[in-house]
Amino acid sequence: MKAIIAGNWKMNKDNGQSRELVLKLMSLVGIDELKNRQVILIPPFTSLSILAELVMNSPIKLGAQNMHWERSGAFTGEVSGVFIKQLGCEYVIIGHSERRHLMGETNKEINRKLKTALDIGLIAILCVGETGAERDAGQTESVIEKQLTQGLEGFENEAHKMIIAYEPVWAIGTGKTATLEQAVEVHKFIRGLLKKPSTIIYGGSVKSDNIDQLMAHEEIQGVLVGGASLDPESFARIIQYQKFLDKPKISDSSD
Ligand code: PGA
Repeated sequence: MKAIIAGNWKMNKDNGQSRELVLKLMSLVGIDELKNRQVILIPPFTSLSILAELVMNSPIKLGAQNMHWERSGAFTGEVSGVFIKQLGCEYVIIGHSERRHLMGETNKEINRKLKTALDIGLIAILCVGETGAERDAGQTESVIEKQLTQGLEGFENEAHKMIIAYEPVWAIGTGKTATLEQAVEVHKFIRGLLKKPSTIIYGGSVKSDNIDQLMAHEEIQGVLVGGASLDPESFARIIQYQKFLDKPKISDSSD
């Protein structure tokens, strides 16, 4: 299985900056370096067509940051999954913590979006994760269990068609990465809840200086990178993690 290296640009990079970033990134990363990893660029909607052209003949894939659960209709300001798929997106982030916490997106809405993504053949990157207060209150597992059970309700057996991203909210954009132990513990918890083997990736202050340690653990099957994906040098270094990996795989004796 290929490791997932996804860059979520959030609301950054206009069209010109998007073009510049991708061209620079493509000049820094060799095709042979992408053999056992899947790079996914997730720019703002407005940059998707430009990126689709630029990555057309490369192994780099595209994703969108959100979509509506309806395919079309009177939903001013929303974007259809069908349209983003037509633009060349194969992936879509659903339930990012910024949408859950800043835009009030609920598990029920996330559930509808996931269903539509499955129906139209987009690979959803479903984000789950606890806030700092929830972790401190010992609620990490119950919060994540609720996000997963409500989010996947009705199609629990199809979670393996998605990517699950564990993104502790307290680690996003804060520079505070979860320790390897914390990330692995939650990854295992998530894996235990899912019916079939699924891809689980980590997100939250992933940087060029912690990527090697994270990717060294077999439980972490990829990363969702925010801030560090905005700089081509640092994202290239993240993509090239194996090059710098001088430690053997961390063996986990706990299971
Ligand atoms: P960050 O964001 O890497 O800037 O912490 C991660 C994310 O929001 O997906």
